[in-house]
Amino acid sequence: MEKYLHIVYCSPRMGILRVLAIETSCDETSVALLTVSGSNFRLTHHETATQIPIHARYGGVVPEIAARTHVAEIISLLERAKVFSKKSPAKFDAIAVTRGPGLSTALRVGIEAGRTIAFATGKPIVGVNHLEGHLASAYLVPENRKRWKFPILALLISGGHTELVLMKDFGKYRVIGRTRDDAAGEAFDKSAKLMGLGYPGGPIISELAATAQRAQPPFGSMKLEARRFILPRPMLNDASLDMSFSGLKTAVRQTWSALSDKEQKDKKIIAEMCAEIQDAICDVVIAKTLRAVNAHKPTAVCVVGGVSANINLQIKLNEALKADASKVHFLKPAKGLHTDNAAMIAAAAAWRILHGKIDNWKNLDAKPEWDL
Ligand code: KG4
Ligand code: ZN
Repeated sequence: MEKYLHIVYCSPRMGILRVLAIETSCDETSVALLTVSGSNFRLTHHETATQIPIHARYGGVVPEIAARTHVAEIISLLERAKVFSKKSPAKFDAIAVTRGPGLSTALRVGIEAGRTIAFATGKPIVGVNHLEGHLASAYLVPENRKRWKFPILALLISGGHTELVLMKDFGKYRVIGRTRDDAAGEAFDKSAKLMGLGYPGGPIISELAATAQRAQPPFGSMKLEARRFILPRPMLNDASLDMSFSGLKTAVRQTWSALSDKEQKDKKIIAEMCAEIQDAICDVVIAKTLRAVNAHKPTAVCVVGGVSANINLQIKLNEALKADASKVHFLKPAKGLHTDNAAMIAAAAAWRILHGKIDNWKNLDAKPEWDL
């Protein structure tokens, strides 16, 4: 460990580590500079170029277009981070890149940029697991760091993953529950697509659900009579910590196609449907999280990944924890750091570097299927 600290710390005596991070795993090109000093994690630069408007035209992410757009964006993002500036260049001690999981060609853009900078500057490089990045996103909040006491249970819900992760230490994770088919984000995205609402489905459904007239019942109180639509909560009462969302998607399709054209255009009906989709997804992930809390007794529950931006989910999960496990802290990332970003990659890289995990730029390749 000492050896690595010496390699990466610009000033070992001062104990400062500065990380330049690059994220290109899917449809966001992002660059961040993070300064770590002791237990203080401070973002000094962070910029993300989203490709959402480009992919929205196709109703989902097109891998080839994602990769090409990363190529078009990455240099100017690095320039704006002053990585190439001759006058006042950004100071960094290590480079972090997302290595996987993600779209192979998209990942390669960030990896090649990082490897080139590592080669040109002689600085060490770290390949980061995107999912560990999501876990680390909550660590960027100072209040959360004060409460960061292992074991912590993470509900990791994104477009590609839905997992319950027991974090025993930095770098020591056990997936104790996961979706058997679609991810929660996919359920949002596919439901929105088949209702013709656009992409990405999560934020769109969440916004429309907020306009629904019905009272939002708290988690656990199923006021079904107040609902126009009743969708299934797959595996809600199943004893395992696994989840499944493909049946929900099928139920959305059946319910939606049974409506008349007029009904499908009715704003109230659309809002009702969105509220029910959102509630069905939230009810399942919250029930499974509570089950995991009871079984594994974590000190905190941390909700991360794109779907954790859902306000309804945040409120209901927080309430459910207060009612069921009042001593368990509720942790979430700062606004804007739920979806993909390079700040979380920098934070996860700092965890790795401080535990001596450094890669060699010569053989740092993409790992599109990399598990936690
Ligand atoms: O973590 P993320 O940015 O990318 C992946 O690693 O997959 O997550 C993207 C997912 C998408 O499925 C998107 O619909 C969902 O996060 N999402 C939301 C919200 N904002 C983004 N889902 C529900 N409510 C939101 N407010
Ligand atoms: Zn992600």
